[in-house]
Amino acid sequence: MAVFDDIGYEDFRQMAMDDSLSPHEKIGFPNAYRDAHEAAIFADIESKLANLARRSQNVLDIGPGCAGLPRLLMDACRLREHSLVLIDSPEMLAHLPDASGVIKLPGFYPDCNDALQPWIGRFNVIICYSVFQYIFVEASFWKFLDLSIQLLAPGGQMLIGDIPNVSKRKRFFASDAGVRFHQDFTQTSEVPHVDFRAVEKDKIDDAVILGVIMRARAQGCDAYWLPQGESLPMANRREDVLIIKP
Ligand SMILES: C[S@@+](CC[C@H](N)C(=O)[O-])C[C@H]1O[C@@H](n2cnc3c(N)ncnc32)[C@H](O)[C@@H]1O
Repeated sequence: MAVFDDIGYEDFRQMAMDDSLSPHEKIGFPNAYRDAHEAAIFADIESKLANLARRSQNVLDIGPGCAGLPRLLMDACRLREHSLVLIDSPEMLAHLPDASGVIKLPGFYPDCNDALQPWIGRFNVIICYSVFQYIFVEASFWKFLDLSIQLLAPGGQMLIGDIPNVSKRKRFFASDAGVRFHQDFTQTSEVPHVDFRAVEKDKIDDAVILGVIMRARAQGCDAYWLPQGESLPMANRREDVLIIKP
């Protein structure tokens, strides 16, 4: 199974209901990409979101899926007495346990605007991990960004994490390290094809990430473009954006 890029919210709903799939496969990942890596991924997320280490914060996870990461987040939130709001399809949320302090809001973000009105200006942490690539294609990503900024409390932090960046991917696969990686992965001597002038329909590139950072800054937030920890499974082609409301 490859990492699925050309799927969306409705496909994830179907995958959530498919009992033949593992939790990782239900969220579009081969088991090998996540199985042994979730603790390191969560540690990387925690290292970027300092508010998670405080007590009694309001936390929002957009697109938590149903594998290990939301469970690690639920444990961390319980320990520090945070409130946790989870937004995903009802089928995906049904796989996560109910718990006190956890609110499940079924729906498609950012169209579930009404249910979020009571939370405007109240979230100390927003996590959107490995989801922005779907929102970029299926929703207005400016609406996604603008609503998220409105939802942040003063001092609030938002991590748009695990963004597949086609520009970064090209830089990597055009490098010697990228060629070696490709040859190890495919067990061939093939050189990966890289076209820096290709039209990349529905793909996120440097321009999109810079646009997100510039718009967040123009709307009063600090915003930073961050690498992933080197040990993370897709660190050579994915990266993160951290937005902080002063
Ligand atoms: C690749 S999975 C990532 C899951 C989790 N964040 C993780 O990294 O383990 C993408 C998740 O986002 C959800 N999703 C996709 N588009 C969404 C949207 N517009 N609103 C809410 N959830 C969405 C999918 O249902 C799926 O659970």
